[in-house]
Amino acid sequence: MPPRPKFTPLDDALYDYLVSHRSPDDAVVRELREETARLGDRAVMQISPDQATFLRILVAAIGARRAVEVGTFTGFSALAIARGLPKDGRLLCFDVSEEWTKVARRYWEKAGVADRIELRLGPAAETLRALPEERLLDFAFIDADKKGYPVYWEEVVRRLRPGGLVAVDNVLWEGEVVQADKRGEDVLAIRRFNELVLADTRVESVMLAVADGLTLARRLP
Ligand SMILES: C[S@@+](CC[C@H](N)C(=O)[O-])C[C@H]1O[C@@H](n2cnc3c(N)ncnc32)[C@H](O)[C@@H]1O
Repeated sequence: MPPRPKFTPLDDALYDYLVSHRSPDDAVVRELREETARLGDRAVMQISPDQATFLRILVAAIGARRAVEVGTFTGFSALAIARGLPKDGRLLCFDVSEEWTKVARRYWEKAGVADRIELRLGPAAETLRALPEERLLDFAFIDADKKGYPVYWEEVVRRLRPGGLVAVDNVLWEGEVVQADKRGEDVLAIRRFNELVLADTRVESVMLAVADGLTLARRLP
């Protein structure tokens, strides 16, 4: 047996160290995160600061111009993606909540990226299907209801350009994916989704131990 590759589990101290050793957040991000934190338990839906920086770098690194986000909440991940786009880039956001995305719109304005972002309200399975059947998307981020992931994946992957990327959040579901006694509907949905990605020959993919697990997939030609 080859030796087990080295990996470093994160505890709170190491995570704080990691978060403080990335390019610092600006005032808009700090304010948005503080306002979202005041929502209480719901705030855990927001992606982590390191994930946001990672998304921004990824989007910029592939020179993305057209991006899609499924699951916007108060707009933190969308802000990161929009900031990775060029000025004439476009991010289409999908969410069902007018209440939460109102917060998002305010911060996109403050950050000066509102003109790059279009928000479509409604169940994403329907709103995504309404997109043109063209392979023009450079980047997609999926972070909405877990049962919807297979549909979001399909609608997004078929529209990715060759070499386009899709990132999917929460694929480790707090580690429950490998705990057989965990049978909640979300973890069952995530397990099924992870197998679906593995079997999808249109992409090459990797699961990253970032936050709650982030799958990154690249559309093959
Ligand atoms: C985990 S949160 C997204 C967090 C966001 N990416 C961030 O970093 O702040 C999930 C979002 O998915 C939205 N959502 C839930 N079901 C949905 C559906 N069927 N269609 C579209 N959006 C949905 C919720 O309203 C919520 O804002």
